[in-house]
Amino acid sequence: MKVSVEELRNITDSHEIYIWGAMIVGQGVCRSLERYGVQVTGFIDSSSGLQGNRALGYEILAPAVLDDKDHQKIVVVVSSGHYDKEIEQLCLAHGLKKNDSYILSRELNDIDPSIDIVGSCNLKCISCPRGNMEDSLPKGLMSIEDYRAVVEKLLRELPLLGSIQLYAWGEPFLHKKLPEIIAINRKAHLLTAISTNLNVPVDFERVLIEKPDWIKVSASGFGANYEVTHTGGKWDMFLKNIHRLAKARDKVHPDLQIMLNYHLYKHNCEEDYVQMQALCRELGLIFRSNHAYLYPLDLVRDAVDGKALPVEAEATKSLLLMSMEEGLEKAKAQKHLPCPELSCLPITWDRQVRFCGVYYNPFLSNDFLEEPLESMVQRRNTSEFCQECMDLGLHQYTGVYLQETLLKRGE
Ligand SMILES: C[S@@+](CC[C@H](N)C(=O)[O-])C[C@H]1O[C@@H](n2cnc3c(N)ncnc32)[C@H](O)[C@@H]1O
Ligand code: SF4
Ligand code: SF4
Repeated sequence: MKVSVEELRNITDSHEIYIWGAMIVGQGVCRSLERYGVQVTGFIDSSSGLQGNRALGYEILAPAVLDDKDHQKIVVVVSSGHYDKEIEQLCLAHGLKKNDSYILSRELNDIDPSIDIVGSCNLKCISCPRGNMEDSLPKGLMSIEDYRAVVEKLLRELPLLGSIQLYAWGEPFLHKKLPEIIAINRKAHLLTAISTNLNVPVDFERVLIEKPDWIKVSASGFGANYEVTHTGGKWDMFLKNIHRLAKARDKVHPDLQIMLNYHLYKHNCEEDYVQMQALCRELGLIFRSNHAYLYPLDLVRDAVDGKALPVEAEATKSLLLMSMEEGLEKAKAQKHLPCPELSCLPITWDRQVRFCGVYYNPFLSNDFLEEPLESMVQRRNTSEFCQECMDLGLHQYTGVYLQETLLKRGE
């Protein structure tokens, strides 16, 4: 059941508002509440590493803050993403009531769009369609006019939208007007999320001065190993840029959270891992790792159908910590679970819309501006393509690698 802006206003009026989940999902929710003038009191997070820090300028508190609160006077917005079910149970254990003293952020907004402002990449990672697929799609940069028009339509159709990801299969730092795009989001109270390979010579201060909220840096190795799976990338440039990025943050945007997403493979999960963790500590970056998988699902589907894979994809397969075959088996065993990708809506630089975030093809629409979002999503959710994907359990494929990571971390 969706909560409307009106209902949100009624539920939150004259209450202390706590957002449970201080990472990207919670921060997006925070931005959408700010858009409607809902005053946020603070974040709550179970991670002791985050407690005591600030997110978007608000304090991050431990769940114990709820112990001595009068339930009539607070509202908790459950906004973690992966742990929403567990957090909801904790809310219920605290005696909170749904749509009264707690709300699920998924019921405020259930679509997370990405806008791939750049339709190309400077690297050719062998685990990514930019490096492992023949590609005849047009390449280019989204114009500022198109960006504005897409954001305006999104906000009309998703009034409680909190964040926009400026990437899917491209490198956002290649867009010369990235600062203007961030400024558009800021004005609209939308969180800007960027993921980058940091192999682009950029004036980071010029970008950071516009105050993006969240930057993810992806890497897969320390030193020479980095260049194996960040194919075409140069370690020296990466190292220089990660220092320059941290320096720019310290100078113009000290509140910016930068997270390094370390892709784990057979060749980089020991000494390199420790060195990258140490570098992140030194530069004040959040370090997160996750098991790499073969992207995109177009190729995984080809393999299931018995088709030969390109050499780059075969090379990726040989480096995976959990083999593609094991991943597929585990995914099939949980094929009854809903598809997490149904919340995705990847819009390309030339306003096309992809099916979801894990396939490179097919496309759902040639022009996002030409069809109501609701009918687009409805067409996708009832499509034969999705049905076949779910019948094979492919919709769970990337999720099982994430589960593997959490298992190894003991979470
Ligand atoms: C395809 S990239 C595009 C953005 C940017 N070029 C970058 O690499 O960060 C989008 C996200 O996919 C993740 N990613 C890329 N290849 C992956 C792989 N083989 N396994 C897991 N995650 C991957 C990256 O960490 C990144 O955040
Ligand atoms: S993973 Fe990112 S950096 Fe690597 S080729 Fe794909 S889009 Fe480019
Ligand atoms: S079912 Fe498959 S194609 Fe459809 S949204 Fe999920 S992952 Fe994408």
